[in-house]
Amino acid sequence: MCGFSRSTWILIFAVSVALWLEFVKKGKLCHSKADLTGKTVIVTGANIGIGYETALALAKQNAKVILACRNLKKAKDAVDRIKTSTGNSAVDYLIVDFSEMADIKRAVREFMSKEDRLDILINNAAILSGGRTKDGLDMMLGVNHIGYFMLTNLLMPLMRKTSEKSPVRIINVSSEAYKMGTIDFDNLNPDTPPDSSTLSLMIHYGDTKLMNVYFTSELDARLKDGEQAITTYSLHPGDITTNLGNDLAVERGILYEAFRNVYVFLFHKHTIYGAQTPLCCAMKEGIETDSGRYFVNLEPVELYQHATNQEIGKKLWAESEKLTGVHWKS
Ligand SMILES: NC(=O)c1ccc[n+]([C@@H]2O[C@H](COP(=O)([O-])OP(=O)(O)OC[C@H]3O[C@@H](n4cnc5c(N)ncnc54)[C@H](OP(=O)(O)O)[C@@H]3O)[C@@H](O)[C@H]2O)c1
Repeated sequence: MCGFSRSTWILIFAVSVALWLEFVKKGKLCHSKADLTGKTVIVTGANIGIGYETALALAKQNAKVILACRNLKKAKDAVDRIKTSTGNSAVDYLIVDFSEMADIKRAVREFMSKEDRLDILINNAAILSGGRTKDGLDMMLGVNHIGYFMLTNLLMPLMRKTSEKSPVRIINVSSEAYKMGTIDFDNLNPDTPPDSSTLSLMIHYGDTKLMNVYFTSELDARLKDGEQAITTYSLHPGDITTNLGNDLAVERGILYEAFRNVYVFLFHKHTIYGAQTPLCCAMKEGIETDSGRYFVNLEPVELYQHATNQEIGKKLWAESEKLTGVHWKS
């Protein structure tokens, strides 16, 4: 076939696999060696996936790491694994369900009663599925956007206090899915959930990830109003093998699942690589001037134009205040 010998074919195959492993399955690593001794960090959705890997890496850098998770057993298991693997005993959990506003408030009260500082907040917990929250919100709006919005605003007094002594960073894990998102203010919290087809759920997920981008840029605008010591970043972690969207695969049946598994095997990276851009935003020195920006592959990148309209950011903030009753205090 094509006149190549067997050994040439083997060589071509080996080189292709090596290139694929190097350029598709591997990602860049964040090499910051910041010593986080004395710093307190919250990572939401940290019992598994990108959040777990991020919390593990921050614990290795000596931070006090709080895993904000909804399931007690999963949270305890993750805390134990991180303690064992890092030898850092200052790792703990905070139980919080981001699909319930009252629970977010309760968890923040609990955290603030125990901790006297918060240096890094990583809003990471998210979901890709239908349904409604306990407050009657669309599930993805509630967990993916309102969860970030409420936790950040409610923890702001503590972060302000911390920032009087040392810099504070707020990191919002978004996604390239923001590119297919739109924000429909006439139907922000749809009465009827979007039809449950995989495509429409994925598009709606993109809407909420666009909200993460707008939340970050509007938060930055508010912080710049005299609070340079607190900076904020949004990011895409990469295409990573995690549990995200697993519910969809179950709904779609065997063919969908088979295709998805092959795609994931070929193109998705390990969670270690998914943690690198969050870690870079949390620790890299000298990125303060990039506050408000969106990072991909460890670097700030330009956003699509539909994600850069300041009026939309302001309106989303105002609507989120109305939905939650939580207000920005300057
Ligand atoms: N994986 C990717 O390729 C990819 C690509 C782009 C962006 N992202 C973003 O990366 C972030 C992490 O996702 P992942 O891929 O690591 O997903 P994952 O493995 O499914 O982890 C999601 C985490 O969020 C938690 N969570 C979900 N709903 C919650 C709720 N109501 N209250 C509290 N915690 C809740 C989950 O807890 P349970 O374990 O209890 O369910 C889990 O810990 C998300 O913001 C996602 O949008 C991921």
